[in-house]
Amino acid sequence: MTIQTSPEATRQRSMLGSILLAFVAIQIVLLARKLYQIRQLRALERLYGCKKLSDESDNFRYDIFGIVKAIKLASHFRQRTSLQYTNSLFQRYGETYASNVLGRRLIFTCSAENIKHMLSTAFVDFDSSPLRKPLFEPITPHGIFTLDGTDWKRSRGQIRSRLSNLRNIIDLELCETHFQAFVQHIPPNGQVFDVQRCTSALALDMQTRFSLGESVDALSFTQSQEKKQFVDDIEVVKERIVRDGFRGPLRHLVSKRAFHQSCGRARKYVMAHAKREIEKRSSSIEKTEDGGAGTDFNKSEEIALFADQAMSIVLANDSMSTTLSGLLYCLSQDDRIVKKLRASIIDTIGLTPPAWNQLGMLHYVRWVLQEALRVFPAAVFNARVANKHSTMPSGGGADGQSPVLVRKGDIVVFSTWARHRLGKDFGADPEKFYPERWEHLSSDISGFVPFNKGPRICPGRKLSSLGPMVNMSTNDPAEQYSMIVLTYIVTRMFQTFSTVSNYNTKEWIERISLTFENENGVLVGLS
Ligand code: HEM
Repeated sequence: MTIQTSPEATRQRSMLGSILLAFVAIQIVLLARKLYQIRQLRALERLYGCKKLSDESDNFRYDIFGIVKAIKLASHFRQRTSLQYTNSLFQRYGETYASNVLGRRLIFTCSAENIKHMLSTAFVDFDSSPLRKPLFEPITPHGIFTLDGTDWKRSRGQIRSRLSNLRNIIDLELCETHFQAFVQHIPPNGQVFDVQRCTSALALDMQTRFSLGESVDALSFTQSQEKKQFVDDIEVVKERIVRDGFRGPLRHLVSKRAFHQSCGRARKYVMAHAKREIEKRSSSIEKTEDGGAGTDFNKSEEIALFADQAMSIVLANDSMSTTLSGLLYCLSQDDRIVKKLRASIIDTIGLTPPAWNQLGMLHYVRWVLQEALRVFPAAVFNARVANKHSTMPSGGGADGQSPVLVRKGDIVVFSTWARHRLGKDFGADPEKFYPERWEHLSSDISGFVPFNKGPRICPGRKLSSLGPMVNMSTNDPAEQYSMIVLTYIVTRMFQTFSTVSNYNTKEWIERISLTFENENGVLVGLS
């Protein structure tokens, strides 16, 4: 007996067969890819002599999906104990160890060798944008923080050229105006005030004047409502970006309404300034070119670019504030250093505000600032994602001295805080604020990373520390912005005041925003 099959059933059977075949083919391709990757990894392992990296599996045995670890990280961030927590893990597992966070491998490191390798030697193997883009996109969609590769290179070049004529962009008279506005907030006779709030406002005023062409007047007693709103919005944005960074994918569970509102308002504010600045520039080009014939740049693109750059600089701004408030916190606990600092300034340049060519002579100011950057680095954590299989030079094997494998997609979190405080690079008592340690140390040592290292090093750095600042006019100017501004402000502060009283009754509690602050404020008196 023959069974008749309808053409429809035959068609369905052959379709099923094709789907099955395609499925098997896909599985074979995936398997082949996996095997190829495993072979690649093994070859890399053999080539570099990689050994096993210590991990937290003893602590999170049943946390297969890394959920408990993710919750633990988020809760330490909320309780403001992230630094203490990660330092304790470095002490337990060594300078480099791995964790599983929501199914992803996170490698934590505070090894100077690994940090240098990732930021310099193997720079092209590690990206920033996969982590930062989703966080920064609403506020600065094409800003330098969200870019890698050629786009980053272009943006970096633009910021660098913007910082290239420091004599034009840093007006010491304007620095003095901002310093005087700061002094207005210091109560008389050494009475208590929160210097952290004031240094934050001071840094914001100086940075917005530089990046937007107009200060936000955060130190002014008559700040406009519009500027006040901008300052508040930037605070909301920075706080949320960092919080979300710690939350990882869990961030999608929390409403972003207020964040988006703040981003919208802050961008509008910056765009208006960008438009004004670009129009000012193009009208001066038109004047010099007799009517502007031949100027072919796209104005709206220029405006968007200017706004993204300006916003990136505003977001990078607080680093100077962290350095200053951290410094005053330390000085309030050590009268010897305050006396020595003031005497060194007066002996070198007297009581008149420093001139451009005198800034490089203030060596003790430089040590004091380097020490503040070491003890209170503005960026306590930073991270990169491996864009291909790679390695790091240490962390493997029982003694942690062998190279380790880094797989494509692994996130490497490095802790500047731990490096500066646990490392042996800085001599005795690394937890102690002791500027004299810089007498015999070079700021180029690989463990000192307040500005990071390598091609992505902070373009506004070169604070007093980084190399002798003997001749400001010949050193690379793009590297000296922070150096000049901070040296000027600290010098003026200790030409004006001779004591720093300590009113802090509580311990320093971390507040990690885009930079780093004390949750309790920094309560001092200056007289
Ligand atoms: C004490 C002062 C400062 C400190 C400690 C500091 C520190 C840093 C650090 C740690 C980074 C991160 C680099 C990375 O993720 O690889 C950075 C990036 C950056 N900083 Fe600074 N910074 C300071 C001042 C400034 C100033 C004054 C400006 C602008 C005038 C500035 C502009 C930038 C920019 C644009 C980036 C992004 C660089 C890039 O991604 O290529 N910084 N800074």
